[in-house]
Amino acid sequence: MTDLTRIHELLVVAGELDLRSVARAFAEIFESDGATAFVIVDSDLTVGGAYPGDDAAAGTLRIPVGYGVVGLVAQNGNSVTIVDDSPRNPQHRALLHLAEGQVVSRLCVPAHGLEGAIVGVISVHRFDHRAFGEDELARAQRLADLVGLRLYAEGLRGAAEEHHSLRDQLIAQAISAQEAERRRIAGDLHDGVTQALASLSFHLSAAHTGLSVAARNGAADDHPLIAGTLDEIAEAKRLAGLAYDETRAAITGLHSLLLEDLGLVAALESLCQSLPQLDVEFRSDHPDEFTVVPDHAAAALFRIAQEALNNAIKHAQAQRVVLSLRRVGDAAVLGVTDDGAGFDVRSVRGRPPAEAGEHFGLASIVERSALIGATLRIDSIEGRGTAVIVELPLH
Ligand SMILES: Nc1ncnc2c1ncn2[C@@H]1O[C@H](COP(=O)(O)OP(=O)(O)OP(=O)(O)O)[C@@H](O)[C@H]1O
Ligand SMILES: [Mg+2]
Repeated sequence: MTDLTRIHELLVVAGELDLRSVARAFAEIFESDGATAFVIVDSDLTVGGAYPGDDAAAGTLRIPVGYGVVGLVAQNGNSVTIVDDSPRNPQHRALLHLAEGQVVSRLCVPAHGLEGAIVGVISVHRFDHRAFGEDELARAQRLADLVGLRLYAEGLRGAAEEHHSLRDQLIAQAISAQEAERRRIAGDLHDGVTQALASLSFHLSAAHTGLSVAARNGAADDHPLIAGTLDEIAEAKRLAGLAYDETRAAITGLHSLLLEDLGLVAALESLCQSLPQLDVEFRSDHPDEFTVVPDHAAAALFRIAQEALNNAIKHAQAQRVVLSLRRVGDAAVLGVTDDGAGFDVRSVRGRPPAEAGEHFGLASIVERSALIGATLRIDSIEGRGTAVIVELPLH
């Protein structure tokens, strides 16, 4: 096996690079007593892997970039060979198994990533005073740069993953904050407006009764003024009742207590039952299938279902609507299908913002799906119906 194939085989293994095996390969390729693969972490060199190495020393050794032989190689990118070197750092000596006063010959090469970035240093050592030659230095540099590229790619992947998880956290926080705000508004409406409307209704009833009794006692209930006032009071009471019902409906729309308490399946089921104007069939897998759906994603799916059902009521004139929540492999799939009027999805979704005007529903469905990393499909055929399908991967 050539030097290159030996390193190549280590680099193509999936997962994190095994730097101890890399160090061992360098030690054997250069007929040496050992080797260390250092990686740069926050301006320090730490031991990524050493052969034969020493676990305790490897765990604690930190060499600032710019200090000592290895630190200088990491800083200026120039490879070096040294005969009979004697590192001062006790942990470094322990890592190399150096006895008191013992010296080593060393070869240190930087490991480059892309665009000249130095991501680590590979250091190979011999105890028998044999110097490393120029050809060995050149070979070691080529091999170290292959290792460097792999480390660089690992670093990029790590940064991308961190970025993703930060983004996911921010989205979860944003959705939770939005839900908390809705809960607050729903609470305020409930405690303030609905209570006031209920007591307004009560007072109007009392006024109506009082006035009727007073009029009867005065035998004047046929007086046109009194009859008119009684009608006004009755109308005011009807309007107060209407306002009460509308506020209750708004509260339910703003915040689902069921979603919070009993979860997505129960909340969707109750959503279907709360729409007397529409015949909605609900189909779902067992609620346990959806316990892995994070709270913020459940809230988003609930809102999407709510809007899709609202659209079916407002626009579809449908005979039947089916709302479903299914577990398909590693995904939760929400579907809202109606057999109503249908519409031209492309022209509606392609409308410029000025024309879209007051129509927020579909845009919010698109936005919420994207936020939780779900894929959305809206299929509609004019005269046949509409299907809104949201697929949320659960990993
Ligand atoms: N299920 C459906 N059946 C028929 N047409 C639909 C359906 N869903 C949406 N549409 C059409 O798409 C348009 C845009 O829907 P969208 O939900 O964005 O706005 P909206 O319902 O009109 O208003 P908003 O949702 O802001 O109250 C609707 O005006 C309607 O023409
Ligand atoms: Mg709508």
